[in-house]
Amino acid sequence: MPVDFNRIPTPCYVIDESLLRKNLELISSVRDTAAVDILVAFKAFSTWGVFPIFREYGFGASASSLNEARLALEELGVKAHTYSPAYEEGSIADILGCSSHISFNSINQLQKYGKIAHQGGVSMGLRVNPEFSDTAYDIYNPCKPGSRFGITAEQLDDDFPQGVEGLHFHTLFEADSFALEKVLAVFVKKFGKFLSRVKWVNMGGGHLMTKKGYDIPHLVKMLRDFRARHNVEVILEPGSAFAYQAGYLVSTVLDIVENQGIKTAILDVSFTCHMPDCLEMPYKPVILCATDEIPGKPTYRMGGNSCLAGDSMGNWSFDQDLKPGDRVIFDDMMHYTTVKTTMFNGVAHPSIGIWSDSSGFRLVREFHYQDYKSRLS
Ligand SMILES: Cc1ncc(COP(=O)(O)O)c(C=O)c1O
Repeated sequence: MPVDFNRIPTPCYVIDESLLRKNLELISSVRDTAAVDILVAFKAFSTWGVFPIFREYGFGASASSLNEARLALEELGVKAHTYSPAYEEGSIADILGCSSHISFNSINQLQKYGKIAHQGGVSMGLRVNPEFSDTAYDIYNPCKPGSRFGITAEQLDDDFPQGVEGLHFHTLFEADSFALEKVLAVFVKKFGKFLSRVKWVNMGGGHLMTKKGYDIPHLVKMLRDFRARHNVEVILEPGSAFAYQAGYLVSTVLDIVENQGIKTAILDVSFTCHMPDCLEMPYKPVILCATDEIPGKPTYRMGGNSCLAGDSMGNWSFDQDLKPGDRVIFDDMMHYTTVKTTMFNGVAHPSIGIWSDSSGFRLVREFHYQDYKSRLS
């Protein structure tokens, strides 16, 4: 049953269960055929209302904070693989309590917390920086010059630290398997001499294996070869791939305004509050039943319902004029979008719902004045 957008109260993020399951099935089949572990990176997707579905496929989690590690334990029932640029004394014990693996960003951090991690039976890794990435966007390139992420080969002398069982790198963004192949060649060249000393290698995220055209057999072969050649457990922790094209942000047109010939549809959602990556990256999202501007067709800029002058994007063309009450549906609004929202301006936060082919729409969370107020005091 296709999603009946007219039945959904707006604004609302809607997870499409069958699309999500398609992603989970593909990722679990890669995990099983490549004999690697694939974790869901909570930073990209942690809408825990659908974690019972993730549990069916047996996915673990990667966390970047105490909150995410705690959520992994509470809602996914797993101890997290945790990495943070720096840990704090006040929360490290709790983080370790929720983690099976922990990666340190520097030798200083290893020296500071290695003993307590070891005592807690948590497997320790080092985040390394191969200083190579295919990423075209600086904002998503952890290997850009001056990066704060990971230990470079030059900094890691031949005296590999005692007790370290893993190496972790993350260099990719929405990449294909051929980008990973290039990274692996550099990683092995720079850090290969340490591979006989470790049990696991975490290849981070950015593997968009659920995107149409991704060469899955190439990925599987590469991972199997790497594992066999270096005799290590291989871990991937993509985030986007899990929720990629698996849901929508459903909005309603509140008004149409016009200035110097530009028509703007004011929506009950906001780019800055509810689709921040559109402005940050920036990128133009897909709107269902609309196209990029076509001369002669009704064309609109979409305007967010906040006071930020830049809270708008253009331009989309529609078959018919837009009017108040019409639905505007933004596609692919799950990964990162749902975890990065704000309540700036006190703009109403979209609720969260799940669309299932068998039972239709289920509203799982609404946001009210108390949610806004409780973030401040
Ligand atoms: C360390 C680490 N792991 C995993 C991820 C997830 O990446 P993606 O959602 O692009 O797959 C990120 C993203 O920033 C990251 O920084």
